[in-house]
Order: sequence, then C-alpha cells, then structure tokens
Amino acid sequence: MIEPDFLHTTRTAYDSVAVQYAELFANALDDYPLDRAMLSAFADLVRADGAGTVADVGCGPGHVTALLHRLGLTAFGVDLSAEMIAIARAAHPELRFDVGSMTALALEDGELGGVLARYSIIHTPPERLPEVFAEFHRVLVPGGHLLLAFPAHDKPSELAEAFDHKVALAYRWSPDPVAELLRETGLLQVARMVREPEENERAFQQAHLLVRKA
Ligand SMILES: C[S@@+](CC[C@H](N)C(=O)[O-])C[C@H]1O[C@@H](n2cnc3c(N)ncnc32)[C@H](O)[C@@H]1O
Repeated sequence: MIEPDFLHTTRTAYDSVAVQYAELFANALDDYPLDRAMLSAFADLVRADGAGTVADVGCGPGHVTALLHRLGLTAFGVDLSAEMIAIARAAHPELRFDVGSMTALALEDGELGGVLARYSIIHTPPERLPEVFAEFHRVLVPGGHLLLAFPAHDKPSELAEAFDHKVALAYRWSPDPVAELLRETGLLQVARMVREPEENERAFQQAHLLVRKA
C-alpha cells in the first residue's frame, strides 16, 4: 500500500529530531500541573472501568507512557518514528513500544481500555482526522476513554488552522468542532480543559478533550 505523504514527511521529520526532542521534553510535564491532572483523571477513569490496556499513540520518547505506567495502568507506546521508539525502548526497557501509525493501528477491535493521543494528531491533515478518530473508536472497548491534547484556536467555525511547527507542518484545532467530530464517531465528551499558554507555547491555548466510547 502506498503511504500518504503526510505520514512519510512526519516520520522523517521526527526521526531527525528524536534525540533533541527527548532531551527537551524529558521533564516537560513538571511545568504543566493541569495537564498532569487530566492524565491522572484519565488513569482513574480507566482503572475504574476495569483497567484495560492503554495505548499512548504518538508516544514520542515515551515519557508520558512511563507516567501512565506509574499511575498504575498497563500502558504501551506507539509512534510513527522508529527513532523515537528506539529512544523510548532504551529509556524504559520495562515497557512495550511499537512502531505504528494512528491511521491503522495493529490492534484488535475493542482491545483497549484507553487511548491517549497527546499532541500527536497535530500533523494529521484535517480531512484525515475522521479516519483517525474512527480508528481510536475501533480499538476501544465500549465505555473506554480517549484523552486528546492539542494546541487550540478559538474560531468555532473552523476545524483546523495550520501553523509553522518547528518539526513538520502542524494544525491547531478548535475544540467545539473536534468534539462534534468525535461525537459523530461515537466518542462522547466527558470533560474538556482549555488552559492558557505557558511561556514556551507560542500564545496558543492548550486543549484536553476527554471522551468515552458509547
Ligand atoms: C509533538 S510529539 C508528541 C510526543 C508525546 N506524545 C508528548 O506528549 O511529548 C508528536 C509525536 O506524534 C508522532 N506521530 C505523528 N503522527 C503520527 C501517526 N500518524 N501515528 C503515530 N505517531 C504519530 C510523532 O512521530 C511524534 O513522536
């Protein structure tokens, strides 16, 4: 099967910056207490539902996968970039990390209790977002949770706005249309957190959407 250009471009870009990315973001969550609170709530909800396995999709160097593990979840990471996965495996040899794409996860239907996609949908062209959400829906068990984090913009009439991300072309998303797209896919909103940007976040608000498979 021919790979779409955006996957090739994104993989090549992250392969080339994986080492720097891992160094830069190793302790990134220390600065974001509200993000940690959403991750912690997500972990609580997955545990309350019977603690199914959680995939950290677009896990990068695996630091957030490791946090999910510390929060008591059976978590593994998936990433397009083989270089990112090599770094994640070296840093966290006790955890599972797979090379793969969110557009076609090598997972069974209903296999997961939770999916985390933290800043990893940002390189998905807007017209491909429905197929990614359908894939998240497919791999989740009924009642399973998905936590999405992404840079936001505040024009509710526009799903996406491209911005010049340092690694590869990226999009920030308007939470209302994203939530509507998720709802149409069968993923219903549980909670939403939109916070103001920290200094290094380019004045973009940051959104977390927590949804649940009906
Ligand atoms: C901005 S980084 C975020 C990494 C990590 N989630 C974090 O919070 O630091 C985006 C990551 O998503 C991965 N990614 C982008 N598109 C992907 C796709 N279609 N499937 C799997 N991973 C993808 C990239 O390779 C990169 O490692």
